[in-house]
Amino acid sequence: MPLTAQFALLAEVSADFLILPIFEEEAPAGALAQLDARLGGVLTRLRQSGDITGKANEITPLLDRAGAATTRLLAVGLGKRSAADQFALRDAGAAASRALTDRPRQRLAMALPDGLDAAASAHALGVGLLQGCDGPGIRKSKPERFAPQELWLVAPPAAPIDAVREATHRAAIEGKAIALARELVNLPPSELYPESFAARATQVAGASGFTCTILDEKQLEAERMGALLAVARGSDRPPRLIVLRYNGGNRPLLGLVGKGVTFDSGGLSLKSSEQMADMKCDMAGAAAVLGAVSAIAELRLPVSVLGVLAVVENMPGGRAMKLGDVLHARNGKTIEVLNTDAEGRLILADALSYAVDQKASHLVDLATLTGACMVALGEDVAGLMGNDPAWSDNVLAAAWRAGERAWPLPMFPAYGELIKSNVADIKNITGKRFAGAITAAKFLEHFVGTVPWAHLDIAGPAWADAESPTRDAGGTGAFVRTLIELAREYK
Ligand code: BES
Ligand code: MN
Ligand code: ZN
Repeated sequence: MPLTAQFALLAEVSADFLILPIFEEEAPAGALAQLDARLGGVLTRLRQSGDITGKANEITPLLDRAGAATTRLLAVGLGKRSAADQFALRDAGAAASRALTDRPRQRLAMALPDGLDAAASAHALGVGLLQGCDGPGIRKSKPERFAPQELWLVAPPAAPIDAVREATHRAAIEGKAIALARELVNLPPSELYPESFAARATQVAGASGFTCTILDEKQLEAERMGALLAVARGSDRPPRLIVLRYNGGNRPLLGLVGKGVTFDSGGLSLKSSEQMADMKCDMAGAAAVLGAVSAIAELRLPVSVLGVLAVVENMPGGRAMKLGDVLHARNGKTIEVLNTDAEGRLILADALSYAVDQKASHLVDLATLTGACMVALGEDVAGLMGNDPAWSDNVLAAAWRAGERAWPLPMFPAYGELIKSNVADIKNITGKRFAGAITAAKFLEHFVGTVPWAHLDIAGPAWADAESPTRDAGGTGAFVRTLIELAREYK
């Protein structure tokens, strides 16, 4: 749905709901004070009576709006002004739209908060509003969430028009990219499998203006992708390597690689039902790369990007790889498989070496790679590992700008000893419980040659087990915006 900027007095905005941002411990000021006067001081009275506090994400509908053109109002708390960073703004936007999308509405409008940078707040609020518009219930026979026909950000007539328009445009495109990544994660695995993922990517590429090339099984064999093909062999669904290219100028090539396991049963090292229940989310890395490349193309960023999505199902079929098997990866290295549930690193091995040969200047891979990363950092923080501190710092800075949380884990050479194999060059697990996120990254490091590479383990942040006032359960679209930010500053 379109998100656009309006420049108007709040009393004149005619919408189904006008959302008002309220700071804690602060009387209405600026445009909000003007509106309050038109409303006969109702905001001031509700604040004095303690019914509106402005606490973060507090939602108060005001159905009596005599004096204003809007049909209804909704106050949303931003918390204290000093803490109103982009996280707080995005959350408030999402809380408000989550509360209002329970039924079909024509027009939702949200006022920009007084006294903050108008463009920055339009961007953060816009992304949040869009994120709050759709939920995980994509196959309910009776829909429970309804994106509005139109969504407006309302800035005062004196606001910097071009900057607010540009920020709103960015938010609209980024919001769409996040929605795509979330939808792909939320789709049932019987609907989203390697071939259907490839078809969708082709469609997105056409709509957004980049190219998409699909490698099928025969071509993967010709590429000698023995590790990726071994994972795929346990499934009746053939694998695909999806290659995305966007050329925004003759520049160094940013390579983005995504893990796309459309369902991870564990293979012969079968997961329990409890562990397997959410494993349709195991393609979130690939979905994030597709979403990000589509936004980078739509924003016409002056960069060149290569996206490589390794898309397979990990199943325990009759031809499945076995424990003790030795795989021949594309770059010539041999891998002993001692646990078929450590499949992500196997498919990424071949995808990374492919990206290296496509002359990527720098690499980032995104993968729901290890439960160990969640043990280390929790459910909302991605692990960041790599082979080049300066490049990792770049990725960390991009995550910071995007308002997403990643944190470095060490890559000391000694960790590499833990994946040496007796029969092959390396093995796909250590056999011990320790440092599982890092040893997985150490495995990947064998396949990136000398290219600066950063690995984001998004096993935690890619998926939300339960909903909260500011976020729906299911796919989150995590790190889509980090990749866009990275591309924005990539030179
Ligand atoms: N896809 C899983 C990792 C995962 C776990 C993602 C939980 C999201 C939530 C991955 O393929 C996996 O199974 N990893 C194993 C590795 C182990 C066998 C070394 C794990 O983390 O247990
Ligand atoms: Mn697995
Ligand atoms: Zn997996």
